Amino acid sequence: MSDAIKRIGVIGAGQMGAGIAQVSAMTGFETKLFDTSEDALRRGYKGIESQLNRLVEKEKISAEKANDSLARLSQVNGLKDFQDCDLIIEAIIENVEIKCDLFKELDTLIPENTIFASNTSSISITRLAASTTRPEKMIGMHFMNPVPVMKLVELIRGLQTSDETYNTICSVVEQMGKTSVLAVDMPGFIVNRILCPMINEAIYLLQEGVKAEDIDNAMKLGTNQPMGPLTLADFVGLDTLLYILRILHRELGEDKYRPCPLLVKYVEAGWYGRKSGRGFYSYS
Ligand code: 3HC
Repeated sequence: MSDAIKRIGVIGAGQMGAGIAQVSAMTGFETKLFDTSEDALRRGYKGIESQLNRLVEKEKISAEKANDSLARLSQVNGLKDFQDCDLIIEAIIENVEIKCDLFKELDTLIPENTIFASNTSSISITRLAASTTRPEKMIGMHFMNPVPVMKLVELIRGLQTSDETYNTICSVVEQMGKTSVLAVDMPGFIVNRILCPMINEAIYLLQEGVKAEDIDNAMKLGTNQPMGPLTLADFVGLDTLLYILRILHRELGEDKYRPCPLLVKYVEAGWYGRKSGRGFYSYS
């Protein structure tokens, strides 16, 4: 266990936050999970419980490890409960104002040694850091979905992030059994900068009349991707994908990032992918 980090707080109990909390507790960190919605918090916690049970059923982990992990995980009622955490990872909605407000509030409540991390997929870490009085203790930790399965964590240093913070977080990622890469603090970092334009291009092909199954099979069988780009888009969420593309387009200012009009229409229709039951495919 890291000397510097023993307790981790996770804010946001959605798919990403719950996944991060699960991995944290399984690694051996005392882990606290919070969400402003009690319902989301309960669902996130239940989801972790059932993921752990599935891992036991599949004999991937022992029942003892599942129980110990759950014992290390607690649901908390407010940000004040994070006061004894050494690291707080934020995984809330992708909205720069809401994230800045959250970090501002945390900054007033939490001892100054605690490191703040954001799981943002596209927002500037430099900007989030500037909303606190401890900008050297802010870092981006971008986990991939599904968190318990995917080996990568992109680390993003803001202009202000200190070497000490970066080194501490590198070691936390390693303890979680994951590999980190260092991205520059530019929109989309590494993965989304490459992945989102690729998926966008697949949607242009769909718009031009190529069948969804053919696009996905081409990329699955032709480039050994585990999921075709349209299936992956449904998995990530079309609203999330559109949000990231808009940031890439606006902040990098190049037409190659222009979101495909068909993607915009799907999001307008409320067809967000798996989570809404319909995206490029239907899910019952
Ligand atoms: N949570 C936990 N475990 C999960 C899971 C989930 N949501 N979904 C699947 N798994 C586990 C399964 O239990 C299974 O474990 P096992 O091998 O120990 O039994 C393993 O993953 C493989 O699952 P399946 O056999 O059901 O299905 P697949 O072989 O198709 O794998 C997948 C599923 C791992 C999701 C695989 O299709 C994949 O790697 N897809 C690509 C995912 C990807 O690219 N993610 C990155 C998205 S980009 C991102 O997150 C950035 C963001 O900012 C947009």
